[in-house]
Amino acid sequence: MPLYLILNNHIASSIRYINSITLARLMESKLMPPVLVSEEQKLIDLILELKKQRNAVILVHNYQRPEMFKIADYIGDSLGLSVKAAETKADVILFCGVKFMAETAKVLSPSKTVLLPNLDAGCSLADMATVEKLKEVKNKYPDAAVVSYVNTTAEVKAISDICCTSANAVEVVNSLRNKRVIFLPDKNLGRYVQEHTEKEIILWDGYCFVHDKLDVNTLKEFKQKYPDAKVIAHPECKDELLKLSDHICGTGGMAKFAKSDGSKNFIVVTECGMTDKLRQDVPEKNFLSFCNVCPYMKSTTLPLVARALITNQNEITLPEDIIKGARKAIDRMLAVSKNAA
Ligand code: 13P
Ligand code: SF4
Repeated sequence: MPLYLILNNHIASSIRYINSITLARLMESKLMPPVLVSEEQKLIDLILELKKQRNAVILVHNYQRPEMFKIADYIGDSLGLSVKAAETKADVILFCGVKFMAETAKVLSPSKTVLLPNLDAGCSLADMATVEKLKEVKNKYPDAAVVSYVNTTAEVKAISDICCTSANAVEVVNSLRNKRVIFLPDKNLGRYVQEHTEKEIILWDGYCFVHDKLDVNTLKEFKQKYPDAKVIAHPECKDELLKLSDHICGTGGMAKFAKSDGSKNFIVVTECGMTDKLRQDVPEKNFLSFCNVCPYMKSTTLPLVARALITNQNEITLPEDIIKGARKAIDRMLAVSKNAA
C-alpha cells in the first residue's frame, strides 16, 4: 500500500481512538493497537526524514508507547526533556508526551515551534488545579508560598512562587522562607513532602488516577513472591505503597537507581510503560510491573507524529505574560536545585 494511504488510514484510526477516550474508556485503559510491524518501519523512516527537513528535535516521555522510543532524540522525564530541548539548536520541538509538558517546553524555548501530536493528550492531575481555585486558596492563606508541581498548566505556574519536580520537591519546599506552603496539585506527593519538612503543607485535593489506583495488596503479593526484589515507586502513589518502597523517585531517577543498586529484581510501582524503558536501559536486570497505563500518554502514535511534522498540527502557543510568569517559577526552582530528574 502506498505510504500516504497507510498514513491516512492510521491518522483516521488514531483520531477515532482519541475521540473515544471517554472517562469510562480511561478507567478501562483500552488502547488503540499499534500499527502493523511492516508499516511501522515505513512510518519511522518518514518521520526521521521529516525531522531532518524541519530541523526538529523529538522528545519522548518515559511512559510513551515503546515504538515512539525509535524516533526519539531524547527520552526522559517531564522537566528534563524540556531543559534538554532548550539547549538544542532545533527550530521545532515535537513533544511526545502530554500537554503540560509541551507547555513547559514552550516556556523554556519561546522562539521555537512546539508541536504536540495529539492535543487531547492531557493529564488528569494537571486538570485538577485551575487558576480560579488557586486564587481562592491564595486569598485564604496570604502568608503561604505557592509550590506547583511540574504537572500543572503554564497558567497555574505563572501565578505560583516556584515550581518543583518529584525529585526536588522536598529541597524546593525547604529552601523557602515562608512557614506555610500551598502545595499543588498532588496530595500524595504533598503528603510525602510533609513527612520531610518542618513547614506546614496545605494540601491540594488532587491526584493522578493512574498512580492513585495502584493497589497495595498487589504490591504485597509481589513482595511475597519476590522477597529479594527492591521496590521503586513514583511519589504520586498512595502513602501505603510508598511506605513499602525501597526507593521513591520520579521517572528520571528510576534507571539510575536500578543500575547502581546491587539487586537483580525490581518491582516498579508506576505507569506500566516505565518498565519498557527500564528493560531497554538495564537489560541485565528484571523488572516487574503493575499494568496500569496512562491513556493520555499512550494516545500519541507514529501517524499523529508524522501528521504534526507535515501540517504543524498542533502548535502550542502561550501569551507573553504566562510565559514570563511560568519561566520565573521554573527558573527559581532550577536556581535551588539542578536535580530536575
Ligand atoms: P516524571 O516527571 O517523573 O517524568 O512524571 C511525570 C508524570 O506524569 C508522572 O505521572
Ligand atoms: Fe498525568 Fe497521571 Fe498520566 Fe502522569 S500518569 S500524565 S500524572 S494522568
